[in-house]
Amino acid sequence: MDTQTLFQQHIDALQQRWSDALHNTLPDCDAILVHSGGSHNYYADDHAPPFKAWGHFLRWLPLDRPDQFVLFTPGNKPRLLAWVPSDFWHDQTLNTESWWADSIDITVMENLSELAAQLPRGQTLAFLGENAGLAAELGIAADRINPAALLSWLDFDRAVKTDYEISRLREANVHALRGHAAAEQAFRAGGDEYDIHQAYLAACRVLDQELPYSNIIALNEKAAILHYQNKRRYADRASQPENQVLLIDAGCRAHGYCSDITRTWAAADAHPVFHDLLLGMQTLQEELVQRVKPGTSFVSLHRQAHVAIAQLLVDNDICHGNAETLVDNGTSTVFFPHGLGHLLGLQVHDVGGRLASRKGDIAAPPEAWPGLRNTRTLDAGAVVTIEPGLYFIPALLEKARGSSLGKSINWTLAEELMPFGGIRIEDNVLATSDGAVNLTRGA
Ligand code: GLY
Ligand code: MN
Ligand code: MN
Repeated sequence: MDTQTLFQQHIDALQQRWSDALHNTLPDCDAILVHSGGSHNYYADDHAPPFKAWGHFLRWLPLDRPDQFVLFTPGNKPRLLAWVPSDFWHDQTLNTESWWADSIDITVMENLSELAAQLPRGQTLAFLGENAGLAAELGIAADRINPAALLSWLDFDRAVKTDYEISRLREANVHALRGHAAAEQAFRAGGDEYDIHQAYLAACRVLDQELPYSNIIALNEKAAILHYQNKRRYADRASQPENQVLLIDAGCRAHGYCSDITRTWAAADAHPVFHDLLLGMQTLQEELVQRVKPGTSFVSLHRQAHVAIAQLLVDNDICHGNAETLVDNGTSTVFFPHGLGHLLGLQVHDVGGRLASRKGDIAAPPEAWPGLRNTRTLDAGAVVTIEPGLYFIPALLEKARGSSLGKSINWTLAEELMPFGGIRIEDNVLATSDGAVNLTRGA
């Protein structure tokens, strides 16, 4: 199907879903005004970080610009109220492409003060977005500005993707995998973290600021830092340590939709146990991916990941005992301290991961794993990441050593493996009634 048709079907589906949301949560409202967000300077500065539009705006149209508005009225073509200021400092060209612009009515405003006059008269509006002050100036009542019931409904609903959204998520995967291939080559060729990062950007032909999140490019022991943010550079190559392990967590965006992919590579002469762990993690990750389908409880899948990782630790003589016991007493969490995954879409950690229903009931994560971002039972059409990890994190290991957990850990081997950091393998997976579709491996 061509993009234009797919997009029109997406808009039709959104019309239906947003009408349901409005009728069920604010039956006396006629329309919703959605704000893309504002650009905010750094403190006491006149520069702002690169802008990314808010997900609920971006879902209507791919326009990463501040201070744009979508007016949604059930039964009507959605309207874009585009603020295009006259400005000789920046490029303010409104780039529209017919594949999306044909599905939207577009009104251009030179001044934001024109917005009020563009809104339908005699209608009750709800406002969604960060600028509550602007909404109040427009005369929108406080209880219609970001109403919790409406937002919960829309957040919950966003987990289930339309075919258009799935095609964009696929595209974001294809795009990022080019970078991952180049990054692996740069690692094998002895590049440092900076070189690997640049190889990724060049292969994807993207700027840093276009990434869905800052690339995590960690060599050797830094692979144990979950959200490692640096890119080490060596001017003097002689002082650069040999590349043993690369953990790269990097994605791309396709018209706002994100991929979030992690690969771990090891040099041939890395510790043999690390190689066995890497193979074991690949196998258990693929098995977990296969369990992504409608009706799967993500909390239960997270626990299954813990049991499988604990078993891998036992099989490799890093831990002693029974896998279930190692999970129940918290030992597996020392090695796998983050969640198995999260919803993925217009945000890397997409909204609604802890909602149990459209009505806003919360499904809290289990006490043992407070960081689990997705506690939902998966619906057909949900896209999640599956990203089990196994790390040798000095701070967590030291804490375990001084506690009762220390007895079940083989410290000689754990210490030998610390310089290799850790392993994470992350794919993006769609739940369908025919089972899991791996958007990353299938890309
Ligand atoms: N890249 C962050 C994450 O995997 O959730
Ligand atoms: Mn990731
Ligand atoms: Mn992730």
